[in-house]
Amino acid sequence: MKQPTYTPKAFSSLLGVSKSTLLRWETKDTLPKPTVINGVRQYMPHDIPKYLKFLGKGPLVTTKRRQLFLNFKGGTGKTSISAFYGFRLAQLGMKVLLMDLDPQGHLTQCLGIDHTDFEFTLYNVLIERMDIRDTIIDTPMENLQLIPANLNLSPVELALTSMNARELRLRKSLLPIKDTYDVIIMDASPSIGLLNLNGILASNELFVPVLADFLSYHGLKILFETIATIEEDFDFIFNNIYIFLNHYNASHNICQRAKKALEKHYKKYLMETIIRQDTKIAEAASMGLPLHQYASASRGAADINSFIKEIFNPLPLNL
Ligand SMILES: Nc1ncnc2c1ncn2[C@@H]1O[C@H](COP(=O)(O)OP(=O)(O)O)[C@@H](O)[C@H]1O
Ligand SMILES: [Mg+2]
Repeated sequence: MKQPTYTPKAFSSLLGVSKSTLLRWETKDTLPKPTVINGVRQYMPHDIPKYLKFLGKGPLVTTKRRQLFLNFKGGTGKTSISAFYGFRLAQLGMKVLLMDLDPQGHLTQCLGIDHTDFEFTLYNVLIERMDIRDTIIDTPMENLQLIPANLNLSPVELALTSMNARELRLRKSLLPIKDTYDVIIMDASPSIGLLNLNGILASNELFVPVLADFLSYHGLKILFETIATIEEDFDFIFNNIYIFLNHYNASHNICQRAKKALEKHYKKYLMETIIRQDTKIAEAASMGLPLHQYASASRGAADINSFIKEIFNPLPLNL
């Protein structure tokens, strides 16, 4: 990953002003100046909120959102979509924290972070009471941070079992950074366990990626029953639950049938945006590059843009 920047043309178009207007603003002391590299002006994503404020638009988010990507089934796109979505939000100027809740560390790898780049995981926070701020690592982007994971996180399930308030430890540990981020995005492992229960109770929105096949569809029933029990037992309720289809191929009959079944039984939660099958997603994930940097003109990148417009509506930017 490298720090993304915008050309004057791209930046002005994102803000919905003309390029000449943007260039004229350079004389304003209240606005950050573009960085000039090799004679070319470059605008920074983390400056977007200041430009929006100047324009009388914004803010980008009205409430702090803590979003968990969860499905007990593996391979549905939790990791790749949460990573690329999180990066894209940061590229649009939001302050984002990505949290890897899976000891396999796929989210960490998906962002090109090597296991030698960090020392701590959520294990140190949940079990050893380390301040969560000490586990956050920087990325090449100023407004994107990560709590990474690796196999050091795997003993967490067993260690949590004998602890007090074991379900609420993550929620409590987030208190010091509650207002630091616009969006906190958590990528769960495909399991039912105490770590994921902590993830649920620490978030306020749930994202469930599903594949358009009937196995995924049946798994949803178990997931929703589990969520209902948790909501009842802990007197907790998600602000929003979003189900979205991923890996979708409209030319496959089974995809269309699974989509119809979802529309029939989960209409309330089903997102309009569908993430289509796109090999660029798998390629970017395996190379540890954000999709919007690896293939910004791809189908997958366009679908993630639509996804963002649906979640953050109205978004004061021209995507
Ligand atoms: N829309 C898509 N099109 C093509 N490949 C995808 C898509 N979504 C996910 N993938 C790929 O499918 C595999 C499983 O996705 P992953 O995000 O690891 O799922 P999970 O975290 O739910 O186990 C990965 O190789 C990923 O890159
Ligand atoms: Mg995963």
